[in-house]
Amino acid sequence: MNDSHDAIILGAGAAGLMCALTAAQRGRRVALVDHAEAVGKKILISGGGRCNFTNLETVPERFLSANRHFHKSALSRYTQGDFIAMVERHRIPYHEKTLGQLFCDDSAKRIVRMLLDECRAGPGSVDIRLSHRITDVAHADAAFRVTTDKGSLSAPALVVATGGPSIPKMGATGFAYDLARRFGLTIVDPRPALVPLTARPDDLALMRPLSGVSLDAVAACGKTAFRENILFTHRGLSGPAILQISSYWQPGGAITLDLLPGTDATAFLLDRKASRPKAGMKSVLSEILPSRLAQALADGPFPGEAMAAMPDKALRKAGDALNRWRFEPAGTEGYAKAEVTAGGVDTRGLSSQTMETRDVPGLFFIGESVDVTGWLGGYNFQWAWSSGWSAGQAL
Ligand code: FDA
Repeated sequence: MNDSHDAIILGAGAAGLMCALTAAQRGRRVALVDHAEAVGKKILISGGGRCNFTNLETVPERFLSANRHFHKSALSRYTQGDFIAMVERHRIPYHEKTLGQLFCDDSAKRIVRMLLDECRAGPGSVDIRLSHRITDVAHADAAFRVTTDKGSLSAPALVVATGGPSIPKMGATGFAYDLARRFGLTIVDPRPALVPLTARPDDLALMRPLSGVSLDAVAACGKTAFRENILFTHRGLSGPAILQISSYWQPGGAITLDLLPGTDATAFLLDRKASRPKAGMKSVLSEILPSRLAQALADGPFPGEAMAAMPDKALRKAGDALNRWRFEPAGTEGYAKAEVTAGGVDTRGLSSQTMETRDVPGLFFIGESVDVTGWLGGYNFQWAWSSGWSAGQAL
């Protein structure tokens, strides 16, 4: 097989595939190299197998990065509308589930098939090399040489699309960071994001028996807040609102939970003291909370006989806790459970137009390897498409 190409792309995930098809449609001959035995493995498992492939409400404010302007260019050059148009061209049925999140009606396999079909659309070519273990990357005389356990390839351009270390059992690695450092780029400390939070032992005593209970709540950290479901787990808290806020939480910090969004819990409890004086706390809380949670609160932090016997001060304290429960997580469930990795290749070393490194012409970083992380809900795939397309235009 010919080992000389116009570009080598490392990583055949969402960003790598998008970059490859874009370059091939501009007439380039690219090699797409991955150590996995199949392309797009995270696409296949995403969205419960239906791939939440983009979000109608994609705006730059819904991404985290040390440079909050960096991702604007790529997101505006290749938009959610552009990706949706491709999905529609391939007649893939989809629907909006909630909050602008677009999912395939049937299977995520349709998205992978679409990307592979686009790779074959020419006039250039995509030479896909799977199950290739990369053993070395060298750069000399304006050429990159990638050595693998199955031979070597060379090209004047190298695109790194190997993602971040989330879900290592799927083959995720920190390869991009090691390579970036070797070429003199800096890394914004990577950390698990969109990840369940774990509880300290005292909170866990309350939470563990509630495992499986979910409710509509607001999770807030600093000025950022998300109203969606939270879910009690045997290790702490999960659910969409918790996954979202986990990306903003820093170790040692606290998050605030409003378990009764839109309801003034103190006013509610004082009202019930007057209107249902003989009722117990559990019975009153069950009116507005899942009954297992009401029971646990009545057995634990909010004990009391009849409402009439509860001093107003105690009801105010309970109401305050329900609307502003301060939760100090012990940590997160780590990369094993993190949907994405926040942090990554420092955007100061990259062109926001093309994703090419400023100091090493021909070297590009795209997708999750870069310090740009989206909210839950299709934003991370949109970043993979937009950054992959931007680099593909420059190859
Ligand atoms: P991605 O991880 O997709 O691809 C990297 C590729 O590089 C892989 O093929 C890997 O095998 C390869 N690779 C890694 N190290 C290598 C090495 N050393 N040598 C060779 N190859 C190497 N997002 C979203 O928007 N909507 C959703 O529904 C979901 N759902 C979801 C579910 C789950 C369970 C997870 C874990 C993640 C999601 N995501 C998501 C996030 C989304 O999957 C993620 O943001 C993108 O896949 C990132 O695309 P990349 O191409 O950058 O990396």
